[in-house]
Amino acid sequence: MTRRADEDELAAREAEALDRAAAARDADRDADRVVSPLADADDRVIETALRPKRLADFVGQQRVRDQLSLVLESAVRRGRPPDHVLLSGPPGLGKTTIAMIIAAELGMPMRITSGPAIERSGDLAAVLSTLTEGEVVFIDEIHRLARPAEEMLYLAMEDFRVDVVVGKGPGATAIPLDIAPFTLVGATTRSGLLPAPLRDRFGFTAHMDFYQPAELEIIIRRSAGLLGVTLRDEGAAELAGRSRGTPRIANRLLRRVRDYAEVKGNGVVDRAVARAALELYEVDEQGLDRLDRAVLEALIRRYGGGPVGLSTLAVLVGEEAVTVEVVAEPFLVRRGLLARTPRGRVATPAAWEHLGLTPPEGNTGPGGLTGPGMATLFD
Ligand SMILES: Nc1ncnc2c1ncn2[C@@H]1O[C@H](COP(=O)(O)OP(=O)(O)O)[C@@H](O)[C@H]1O
Ligand SMILES: [Mg+2]
Repeated sequence: MTRRADEDELAAREAEALDRAAAARDADRDADRVVSPLADADDRVIETALRPKRLADFVGQQRVRDQLSLVLESAVRRGRPPDHVLLSGPPGLGKTTIAMIIAAELGMPMRITSGPAIERSGDLAAVLSTLTEGEVVFIDEIHRLARPAEEMLYLAMEDFRVDVVVGKGPGATAIPLDIAPFTLVGATTRSGLLPAPLRDRFGFTAHMDFYQPAELEIIIRRSAGLLGVTLRDEGAAELAGRSRGTPRIANRLLRRVRDYAEVKGNGVVDRAVARAALELYEVDEQGLDRLDRAVLEALIRRYGGGPVGLSTLAVLVGEEAVTVEVVAEPFLVRRGLLARTPRGRVATPAAWEHLGLTPPEGNTGPGGLTGPGMATLFD
């Protein structure tokens, strides 16, 4: 397999796993995973209230904000719709929020749809052909758009035209239809999966990055104000450090901690209350939850740090391999606690230290072989 095919395969599995995780969250089967970056039904209700409405209220992502405000302001001055905008980045960082802010700053209505929701190109034609001038069209998860719809979108984005196919088989004809100039805002967690012709048609691409704890603190304090939670600064700092750089998780932790403060205390969230609540929810100082720690524990205590194959690791923590790979590993890798090597997963010295253990001599980092070396499933 080529490298590219490998990546596509992994991406497809990832998309599938994210779908399943989202479905599980909807069914509340994943309710104990308080650090998931995906929104569950509760999150979606509350997020509407917590979303900043204007660019000036949007915290962090300074570069994106500066660039976007230029794009929008000059469009408003010219009285023309701005370039199409692509927002890329991991879940929970504010892509949907930015899309809504774009429409608000332009003073235009917005149509919302998503790649998986558009099953046939006719679905897309129905949206595009009824637009009024300057409207904003938001397509979430645009990398999952079906091929024919994607091709229709090329033409619409470039020439403000769609070809509507009338009839079937050899007698089918394509009728070109002019549509009103509009602005497309696409959001994707996987910009690498977008075909180049689609990516090239966006005039402005914003890449969203994980947030710094100081930024998350501001977001948490703002949300506390909106929710009527009395939050001390040290409480906010405690939450920010455990939110995995993700505003959605920060807002969720705040709600859980608020519940705890109301039931077990006097409703005030200070450092002690935040710590006690997060201990109860099993979210540690770095934002690792039970599954994350189970993965590290299995690697280190059973296999001396690895390398261990993914499927073995999954058996040890009692999860599906894809859950470990998609849900737990990306964060552990980003935090420098776990490394993926050709021979399997390896715990880094930082992982040993995180569990309060001393890394063995000679384990100098990712790939450093220690302990029993190649692991076997049944030890
Ligand atoms: N920069 C930010 N400032 C304040 N709140 C934010 C910010 N980014 C995200 N949020 C909050 O986090 C939640 C998730 O954001 P959302 O835009 O839905 O993320 P995405 O679409 O990237 O998954 C929303 O409730 C939103 O209020
Ligand atoms: Mg979103």
